[in-house]
Amino acid sequence: DIKGFVFDLDGVITDTSVFHSQAWHQVADKVGAPWSKELEDGLKGISRMDSLEMILKAGNVSDKYTDDEKVDLATEKNTNYLKLVDQMTPDNILPGIKEFLDDLKSNGYLISLASASKNAPKVLSKLQLADYFPEIVDPKSLSKGKPDPEIYLKGAELINLNPEQCIGVEDAAAGVESINAANETSIGIGDPQVLSAADVKFNDTSEMTLANIKNQMD
Ligand code: G6P
Ligand code: MG
Repeated sequence: DIKGFVFDLDGVITDTSVFHSQAWHQVADKVGAPWSKELEDGLKGISRMDSLEMILKAGNVSDKYTDDEKVDLATEKNTNYLKLVDQMTPDNILPGIKEFLDDLKSNGYLISLASASKNAPKVLSKLQLADYFPEIVDPKSLSKGKPDPEIYLKGAELINLNPEQCIGVEDAAAGVESINAANETSIGIGDPQVLSAADVKFNDTSEMTLANIKNQMD
């Protein structure tokens, strides 16, 4: 029986995936790497330094930058990203998410957060959703990022559940892969072609209700 939900943040709870993309696009332009939908989708769920490396590789310029210069590029991206986060309000919560979280709470489901973002606590506080997520996986504690199962295994552990008792919710292919490898049930929200590996699929957050999930799991 399902007893808990482990959530990704960016692109699931809120529309910050657009902000991440915008800030990375600037970096890609700066280093002369081509920007594409494939690159944009591939960056979702990936840690800050791994994302930078993917962009540099896409432009064949990884060798042109020293480690210090790479840290500077990633820091500049984060500064630009945080300028966008600073303007966030609860209006940036994606459609239906608040209602879904309330429904989970009133039905006794446990909730944790499995985001690769070091900015997750800040984003949750801007959304005034921090109270819903007392348990957050610390991305600094991870030895491997998504698609490795580690982050979703820790998300289950934080709420004292076995992976089989958890549903993971994602907007990224790397994240769905991580959930599946952790032996949790996966929900993919967004482009069904990108998220074909998900057990349960929704085009949009507004479609994610307990009833609709049960329907697809039967
Ligand atoms: C999430 C986002 C990625 C982002 C990563 C690291 O997984 O989907 O786009 O790169 O977190 O975020 P951070 O805020 O720590 O740079
Ligand atoms: Mg995401």
